[in-house]
This record gives sequence, structure tokens and C-alpha cells, in this order.
Amino acid sequence: MNIRLFVAMCLVVPGLAAASSASDWKMKEMTPDLENLPSLQRGFRLYLNYCLGCHSLKYQRYGRTTSDLGIPRDIAVENLVFTGRKIGELMVSAMDPEQAKSWFGAPPPDLTMVARVRDPTWIYNYLTTFYVDTSRPFGVNNKVFPNVGMPHVMMDLQGLQFCTSPGGGNTDEAGDCELVTEEGGLYSAEDFDRAAYDIANFLFYTGEPSRLERHRLGVYVLLFLVVLYVLTFLLGREYSKEVH
Ligand code: HEC
Repeated sequence: MNIRLFVAMCLVVPGLAAASSASDWKMKEMTPDLENLPSLQRGFRLYLNYCLGCHSLKYQRYGRTTSDLGIPRDIAVENLVFTGRKIGELMVSAMDPEQAKSWFGAPPPDLTMVARVRDPTWIYNYLTTFYVDTSRPFGVNNKVFPNVGMPHVMMDLQGLQFCTSPGGGNTDEAGDCELVTEEGGLYSAEDFDRAAYDIANFLFYTGEPSRLERHRLGVYVLLFLVVLYVLTFLLGREYSKEVH
């Protein structure tokens, strides 16, 4: 095959695949922040309460997560680890994948690595853009994942959003409407936004837990290099005294 044609195909084909599954929703940016331990801790707690029922984190242990996030062990055992589980265990959902598939049309995937496949910005937008669509089995649709099988699990926190076209009236066309909360939930709009951010931030952490450790180690490595530099400098000065 002509090499130029081959290169062009490599570039175009994945692009087409991505375009066909993507929605034209204008994403709101979010930047993950692993230094923000309170955010990661809140994200972890929300995940346990609202997501683990369906989505396992089967490459992640309770114990490792709580120590990475600076949560004292006794507090974790009392408040975070599900009844009947041990702190050293992997975080596996109790849901049976076969049954889940028949309930939702698709089994809820494991989310340990989801932030590597879908970036954290996608997850953040996904969590904030569930809106009422009575044609769907659970009565809701999603702006960044059209016709998703997942219900709006944080409805009690966010309330219900409607997709309202600028000229008035409801429309289900992706992209060309504004999401308006008509029936509020337990959280204010800002608090819900923060909750979605925290969960996306937490899933960014589970995607590569060693990133957190690297950040911490990096500081010590740099300090070590500074000390080494000073010592080498002083040693060099001693040597040059003897030469002259
Ligand atoms: C009642 C079960 C259930 C709960 C609870 C639930 N989900 Fe889901 N979720 C699903 C199902 C089912 C899918 C697959 C949807 C599909 O493919 O159409 C899904 C898909 C997803 C996806 C897309 C995965 C991918 O790459 O395709 C993400 C991200 C996600 N869920 C995040 C969450 C988060 C975060 C929470 C907690 C706030 C949560 N889910 C709670 C059932 C659930």
C-alpha cells in the first residue's frame, strides 16, 4: 500500500470512530488536583455511597486508598469500609454482572481505569448533564453519553434538570439546549458541581494511584538534589584550593 495513504488512514479512521460516538455538548473544563486531599476524600466517600453499588474498583483496595488519601485507619474502618468487608480487600461491587446487564441494557463497567479511557473532564461533564427525557427507560438521558443505560443516581443531590431550547420548550436534540434545574435537590448548584468535580478527581487518582506517591517522592528527590549540589559545590571549592 502507498505509505502516504496508509498514514492518512491511520489518522482519519480513529478520528471518525471518535466523532461518531461523541456528542457535540460543549464540555466544561476541569483540572484534576491530586494535592487537594479534602477533594479526593469527598470524592471517595461519594463514590462509596453512590457508585460502588454498581461499579467495582477491582484494582484498588480500601486500605491503600484510605492511606493514600490520608484517612486514619479507625475512621475508615468505622465509616467507609462496607459492612462485611475488610480494609485489605479490593473494592468489588456486590452486583451480579449478568443481572445488571438485563436491568440496564449494559453491565456497569469497572471504573478503576475509567479516567484513562475517558478523561476526567468527560467524567465531570457526564455526571452533571443528566436531564429528563421521558422516552428513555429510566426517564433520563445524558448530554455527553447520549442514550446511556445508567440512571441518574445522584438525583436526590442534584434534583432534576430539563433540556430547554433557547426559544422555549423542551428538546432532546444534543447540544442545542440549555440545562435548567427546575426541581432542586439536597445540594445547591455549586455544591453539586463540586461533588461531580470531586468524584472525577477521585477517579483520576484511581486511574494511576502511584501518581500521588510520585508527587510526594518528587519533593524529597528535589530536596536531596539541592543538598547534594551544596555538598558538591563545597567539595569542589576545597579541591580547587589545593590545586592553586
Ligand atoms: C444503578 C447502577 C449504577 C450506579 C449506582 C452508577 N452507575 Fe455508572 N453506569 C451504569 C451502567 C449500567 C453503565 C453503562 C451504561 C451504558 O453503557 O449504556 C454506566 C456507565 C458509567 C460510565 C461510563 C463508562 C464508560 O466508559 O462507558 C461512567 C463514567 C459511570 N457510569 C460513572 C458512574 C459514577 C461516577 C457513579 C456514581 C456517582 C455511577 N456511575 C453510578 C450503572 C450505574
